[in-house]
Amino acid sequence: MQDKKVYLNGEYLPLSAAKISVLDRGFLFGDGVYEVIPAYLGQLFCLEAHLERLNNSLAEIRLELSYDSQQWSDIMAPLLIEGDAQYIYLQVTRGVAAKRDHAFPETVEPTIFAMCSPIVPFEYKDGVSAVTLDDTRWQLCHIKATTLLGNVLLRQQAIETGCAEAILIKEGYATEGAASNIFAVIDDVLITPPKTHEILPGITRDVIINLAKANQIAVQEDIISLEALQLASEIWLTSSTREIVPVTTLDGRPVGSGQVGSVWHVMQALFQDYKLGLS
Ligand code: PDD
Repeated sequence: MQDKKVYLNGEYLPLSAAKISVLDRGFLFGDGVYEVIPAYLGQLFCLEAHLERLNNSLAEIRLELSYDSQQWSDIMAPLLIEGDAQYIYLQVTRGVAAKRDHAFPETVEPTIFAMCSPIVPFEYKDGVSAVTLDDTRWQLCHIKATTLLGNVLLRQQAIETGCAEAILIKEGYATEGAASNIFAVIDDVLITPPKTHEILPGITRDVIINLAKANQIAVQEDIISLEALQLASEIWLTSSTREIVPVTTLDGRPVGSGQVGSVWHVMQALFQDYKLGLS
């Protein structure tokens, strides 16, 4: 394991030296939230949007922590490596309590951890396969919580069926991927499910909607039924670490022509320019 520098509770130290207590509520209960913030050319991408979502997640789990953007930036900046595409993983848990008890402890200091990892370029030439699975997760999917067992089991099931991602279906409608948001091109309109408690409000999702609007690509935030998804000419999965992934096979059947679609090519070019600050 590479012994890179990480941040833990006010200190920078080698990964191998970063330790937390077994009584940390993140470890015992998954009682914490996180962010995954990409960085290109040494600059954190959409930092304010990620921090706003972090603050929303903290407020939702009633964890009081009042760091401003500058304080978060100061924590993350020393972890970045100039030039490479990378991402910061930032996690805040409720901290270490004196004993294991589900209810919040009265006095506790949050645990704050951050590390940087390279973004491994993803090969999109042929697109990926996805499988639809029942969305078995909880009711609070808008919180970016570390409590990810539902997502973990669904992603693993997708991998075991030879697919890159699970597209989750709730009451006949697609919500999102196990670790991504979804877009579909249906009758030449780019559609993504609206922001509700059933999906994580993805930052990549917002960038794509804004790029579509600015470039005369018809886009709508609307529900997508499983039947509509099966007839879509394109399906994409979006996230901070994989950007925009075209799905060319859904449940063993080709999506549209079975090739990466033309709208994806347009959006991919727009997104690449935007992330490098070229547009
Ligand atoms: N996950 N939905 C879920 C359930 C996710 O886990 C993610 C990202 C997204 C996309 O959000 P964004 O565009 O802000 O990355 C949607 C991250 C990458 C992860 O857990 O590693």
